[in-house]
Amino acid sequence: MKRVLSGIQSSGSPHLGNYLGAMKNCIDFQNDNENYVFVADLHALTTIKDKNRLKKNILEVVLDYMALGLDPSKTIFYRQSDLPEHSELTWIFSCITPLGMMERAHAWKDALSKKKKDPTIGLFTYPILMAADILLYNADLVPVGKDQKQHVEIARDIAEKFNSTYGVDLFKLPQEYTPKEVATIIGTDGEKMSKSYGNTIEIFADKNKLKKQVMSIKTDSIPLEDPKNPETCNVFKIYSYFASDLEIANLRDKYLAGGYGYGDAKKLLLNKLLEYFGPFREKRIELEKNMSYIEDVLREGANKARVKAQKQLAKVKKTIGLIF
Ligand code: ADP
Ligand code: TRP
Repeated sequence: MKRVLSGIQSSGSPHLGNYLGAMKNCIDFQNDNENYVFVADLHALTTIKDKNRLKKNILEVVLDYMALGLDPSKTIFYRQSDLPEHSELTWIFSCITPLGMMERAHAWKDALSKKKKDPTIGLFTYPILMAADILLYNADLVPVGKDQKQHVEIARDIAEKFNSTYGVDLFKLPQEYTPKEVATIIGTDGEKMSKSYGNTIEIFADKNKLKKQVMSIKTDSIPLEDPKNPETCNVFKIYSYFASDLEIANLRDKYLAGGYGYGDAKKLLLNKLLEYFGPFREKRIELEKNMSYIEDVLREGANKARVKAQKQLAKVKKTIGLIF
């Protein structure tokens, strides 16, 4: 049995990239592992500066996760900000993390190259908070998309740095879990699907919005009559994550035969998404009616996580000389 842990930022509505790249794997792991999932609302502060939006996003992520099958009796499910231990360990790690390690982080370099306005210290030290999230629970496995792989590597480096600095074996070295087929889901514009790029297909968008998002998937301009290449088409690609082998083979035949337009394929994809997520949508409506239950779940999750986090943090503080 492994200890599996992952977080998702509450920076917008979860999308198919989040689902396939991380959320689904976290849910699948909950049956035979010690499973931790949390809402990374402190990380979301690096982008969201509006109180009401942040609150709304936190609840959306919680509802979405539970509607998709996260079971709080099998997974410790909590909000990062409910545990000050994450922030405390972040500071301790900040004092052993070389500056160069942060400067080499892709997400930071990306922010600089895109000339992000006034990049903050929070954005710069984002991977240290993420290392604290993971190492506070000594997770073995961290399900994440490819964009987060380097951050898990950094967590590993920080664990090693701490262990070697203090001559202990306190932190386990975590491993990312990033299956190749779902490592990077492509968005409607052909780039990586991301809340921050406005190119998402949201899991629980209402039907009209979902239709708009699916219809906006970029395709090439091969005329309707001509044969098309399924392997290079993002509509086909996304469809294949949710359809059966037979359905995929049928659609491939239609592409190759010609006389089948991308508009038809998009309609097929839309219906597939509505069918696949239909039962989850119903569950979400039910959950939304009982917000006090959701609050209970988060409170209980935080209580369970706190027991683990406090124990680990006490060991850290003893090791570095803050508890005697
Ligand atoms: P976003 O990039 O949309 O803000 P998050 O940073 O909150 O998403 O990511 C939550 C989880 O979903 C992370 O594990 C991340 O790697 C994964 N993820 C996000 N986008 C994708 C994608 N396009 N393909 C695969 N996984 C993704
Ligand atoms: N940084 C991750 C993301 O943007 C979210 C996250 C925060 C996370 N802490 C984590 C993921 C710890 C895995 C483990 O997606």
